[in-house]
Amino acid sequence: MRLLITNIRQLCQVSTAKRIYGKDMANIPSIAHAWLLIEDGLIHSFGPMAEIPETNPDEIYNAADRLVLPAWCDSHTHLIFAAPRDQEFVDRIRGLSYEQIARRGGGILNSAKKLNETSEEELYRQSLKRLHEVMAQGTGAIEIKSGYGLNTEAEMKMLRVIRKLKEHAPIPVKSSFLAAHAYPTDYKDNKEGYIKLITDEMLPRIAAEGLADYMDVFCEKGFFEVPETERLLEAGWKYGLKPKIHANQLHYSGGVQVGVKHNAVSVDHLECVGEAEIETLKGSNTIPTLLPAAAFFLGIQYQPARKMMDAGLPVCLATDYNPGSCPSGNVPLLLTIACTQLKMTPEEAINAVTINGAAAMELENELGSIQKGKTANLIITKKIPSLAHIPYDFGNNPVEKCVFDGKIN
Ligand code: NIG
Ligand code: FE
Repeated sequence: MRLLITNIRQLCQVSTAKRIYGKDMANIPSIAHAWLLIEDGLIHSFGPMAEIPETNPDEIYNAADRLVLPAWCDSHTHLIFAAPRDQEFVDRIRGLSYEQIARRGGGILNSAKKLNETSEEELYRQSLKRLHEVMAQGTGAIEIKSGYGLNTEAEMKMLRVIRKLKEHAPIPVKSSFLAAHAYPTDYKDNKEGYIKLITDEMLPRIAAEGLADYMDVFCEKGFFEVPETERLLEAGWKYGLKPKIHANQLHYSGGVQVGVKHNAVSVDHLECVGEAEIETLKGSNTIPTLLPAAAFFLGIQYQPARKMMDAGLPVCLATDYNPGSCPSGNVPLLLTIACTQLKMTPEEAINAVTINGAAAMELENELGSIQKGKTANLIITKKIPSLAHIPYDFGNNPVEKCVFDGKIN
C-alpha cells in the first residue's frame, strides 16, 4: 500500500537526530512545498514538490497547503482511571493543597478506591475512549501507567487494560508499573510491608506476564522517599524494568539524583529543579521530562525549562493526563502552556514533544521525526500559516487529519 501526500506547505521535523539538546531545540528542520510517500505504514521518501518523482501510488492525498509533522509522543500519562475528581478541584480552589487532600485520604487513594470497584471491561471502555480523544488531537504514541490499583490484583488489572490497548490501538503504547504511587490505606502503618508486597509479590508476577515496560515511583516527601525509591528501582531492574520516575514535583526531594543514579530513562515533573539537579542531569543519559500542564492545573510553580535548555539538556514535554493533577491529555494545549509559562519557543516545545518525547519512550528509532523507514504516524494540520500557530491558537485543535501506521484517519 503506497500513499502519496502532495502539496504540503511545510514538512516539519525532517531530522535524523535521536534526541535534540539545548540550543538546537530552537530549530525544526523543514522542507517547504513538499511531498511525502508512505509505503506499508513506513515513511518511504520525501522531498520538494519541484522534484517529485514519477510514482504510481495506491492513493494520493492532496494536503492543499497544510503542514505535516510527526504525531506527538506523549511519554507520561495515567490514562487508565475509573472516575474524575471534580470535587478535589473545587476543594483546591477553596484553598486546600494537593498534599492536604492526599493526607485526608483523597487524591491517589480516592482514585484507587474507585478503580478497585470498577471492572476491567469498564476500565478498558473508558480508556479506549480517552485514547481516541487524544489521538484526534494528534497523539501518535503514548506511555500509560498503573498506580491506581495499589494491590496486586488491581495493579495487574490496570496493566492488562494497558496491554489490551497495546494490542488494539493503532499507535504504540508503553506501559509503566507504578504501584509505588501512594501507600494504600491498609498499609498506612506498615510501609515496609507495602514495599515488600511490590518487590516480592507484584514485580515477579508482572514480569512473568510481561505486563510492564518500565518501573515508576512517585519519589516525593510524604510518598516514597529516596531510600525506598532506591530499593524499588533496584528491584525493578532485577526484573528488567528500566526506571522512569516521578521526581521533584513538590519538593527538592533528591528524586532527580536517585533517578540518574539508577539510569532512569527519564525523570518527570521537575518543578523543583536547581543547579544541583541540572548538574546531575548533564552528562547523564536520563531525559528531563517536564509536565507543565499539571503545574498549571495545580497552580504550583513551573519548571525552569529555559535554564535546562541553556544547560544543554534534551528537554521533553508530556501531558501527565490523570484525574487529579491534569485531567487533560491535550498536547496542543500543553504546547501553549509550555510557550506562555515556561517561555519555550514553539519550535522548542514541538521538539520536546516529538523526537524528545519518542526518546523518553525509547521509540526514537521508530517515531518523532520525518525520516525514511520510520513509522508514518503524522499530523496533517488545518490550514494554518505557521508552526507557531499551533500553540498560539489555544483551545482549538490544529489537527485536520492524522495518519497512523500510514493510514489516514
Ligand atoms: O503525576 N504526582 C503523582 N502522580 C500524578 C497525580 C496522580 C493523582 O493525583 O491522581 C502526577 O501528577
Ligand atoms: Fe504523573
